[in-house]
Parts: sequence; C-alpha cells; structure tokens
Amino acid sequence: MSTTTISRMQDEAKALARERDAVILAHNYQVPEVQDVADYVGDSLGLSREAAATDAEAIVFCGVHFMAETAAILSPDKTVLIPDLDAGCSLAASITADQLREWKAKHPGAVVVSYVNTTAEVKAESDYCCTSGNAKAVIEAIAPEQEILFLPDMFLGIWLERVTGRKLTIWLGECHVHAGIRPEDVERWQADAPDAELLVHPECGCASQCMAFGNERTHILSTEGMINFAKASSKQRFLVATETGIIHRLNKEAPGKRFEAVSERAICKYMKMITLEKLRDSLRDWKHVVTVDAEVAARARGAIDRMVAIS
Ligand code: 13P
Ligand code: SF4
Repeated sequence: MSTTTISRMQDEAKALARERDAVILAHNYQVPEVQDVADYVGDSLGLSREAAATDAEAIVFCGVHFMAETAAILSPDKTVLIPDLDAGCSLAASITADQLREWKAKHPGAVVVSYVNTTAEVKAESDYCCTSGNAKAVIEAIAPEQEILFLPDMFLGIWLERVTGRKLTIWLGECHVHAGIRPEDVERWQADAPDAELLVHPECGCASQCMAFGNERTHILSTEGMINFAKASSKQRFLVATETGIIHRLNKEAPGKRFEAVSERAICKYMKMITLEKLRDSLRDWKHVVTVDAEVAARARGAIDRMVAIS
C-alpha cells in the first residue's frame, strides 16, 4: 500500500470514528498503520482499563477476539466491534470451559487464576483473571496456603512460580509465537550484542527464560512493561523477545534507541488479520459486533474486575 493510500484510509477511519462516536483501541502487536490511527495503543491490561473507562458509544478493538470479548464484558452498554472475527489466539484455544470444569473437579477448593488470553466461558469459570502486566501481583494477592490452578500458559506459570516462590498447578498451554522463540535465537543475540538489554515476554519458552534469570541484562516484561522500561533506561540497545509488532511502538516511544527482534519469525498471524482496510470497513459497515452471553458475562465480570483493580 502506498503512503498516500495509507493516509487516505487513516483519514477515513478517523472521520468515521468521530462521526459514530467510536474509540479505536489497538494492541502493541498491531501493524504500524493501525497503531498510528488508534486513540490508544497498549497491552492487554491497559486496553482493558481503557475499554472500561471510555465515554465513547462504541469501541473498535484492533486486537484478537478474547480482548474484544473482555471489552464487551467490561462495557456492556457499548457496542464492541472487531474488524475480523477470525482474529483468534492459539493460547486461548488451548483450554475450553469443559476442560476447565473437569480440572476444577479434580482440585476441589482450588482458586482458579486465568490469564486474560482465554475465552469468556473460561473466564466465567475463573476466580481471578490476570495479564502479563499484573500476574505476579494477582498471585501475591491470594492467601499463601491456597492451592492455585493457573491457566493456560505454562511458561508464564513457571515464571510466576519463580518470581513469587509459590507452587502453582499449571495448565500445559502455550502461545505458538512465543514458544517458537528458541533458545538459539536468544543465545545468538546475546553473543552478538553483549551491550544490549534483553526484553523477554513471560510467554516465551522455558529455555530462553531460564537463561534470562541468571543475567542482569535480561528483563521479563509485559509488552507495555517493555515500552516503559525502554523509555526510562539509560541504555541505547535492546533485543526484544516477543511479537515483532511491538518494535514500531518502541521506535516511536523511545526514538534514537536501537530495537531488534530476537526472532523475525515471531509474528502472530491472528493479530495481523486486522488491517487498516478492515478497520475502516468495520467503522463504515458497523461490523463485526462482539457480544457475550449475559449469564457468561456476569460470571466472567468478577474475575475481570479483580484483574483491572490489581496492578
Ligand atoms: P500483553 O498483555 O503483554 O500485551 O500480551 C498479550 C499477548 O497476547 C501476548 O502474546
Ligand atoms: Fe495469542 Fe500468541 Fe497471538 Fe498473543 S501472540 S494473541 S498469545 S497467539
């Protein structure tokens, strides 16, 4: 797409959003031209908070389906649109509500902490929801003697055990993008760029994380945590172990610093299903409306409210 076409479509999207009183929210993994037209760009936690706080009539969610569902639960009186209904998440798909009910039945009395990357039905079966931005604080808010079922990301679960010193019962799910960032990718970069800080998302594979624990140049952070860290740091060079869409935001928020993806293959095909054209069409044709069954939403709401409140 030429830059003229991009700026024309961005103007169209902005005008439609104004006309229809819609706020455009975009995740840090969105393509640059979508990030640049959004009213707010952030991580799962920040986006949930924005969705809960907005005065706009409608929310256009440029992210994946569970994020739009979470917005619909938090703002039941608003219309929530997603530009492509097929924008799913391999991690959210790794556990169903039936599987969770079976798991809970085997662990009576356990508290269920679900990562935000889950369907509304799974959240409805959960006591707490968390994101990578507040998972540690959520676990620490639960009484130490309490058994915790943590789902669905095993790498985030293992990291939480390390940083909280708690034993968790962990579901063996993974995100194909982060699990695909291999230890060799990190090792190669650490050898090539000894002056760089390494920013790692906690969904990344165990091996790269384990190496990371013993190294003070390595920081395990949510996507928004990476932005804040890079802005505040006096360092100039950063290696980024997460989905590559975040590099655009890092370059924008911390200009003059150098950001490199640890793996250029770390691309989430679901996040990339949202294009500027589909965003414009979504505002023009008022599609695709994301709704959550009222009974499921009511049960999921408690877990999500606890997530939004804890930071
Ligand atoms: P963040 O909450 O850190 O933005 O992560 C969301 C996600 O989908 C990671 O893959
Ligand atoms: Fe889901 Fe992984 Fe894509 Fe994040 S990067 S939306 S966890 S598939």
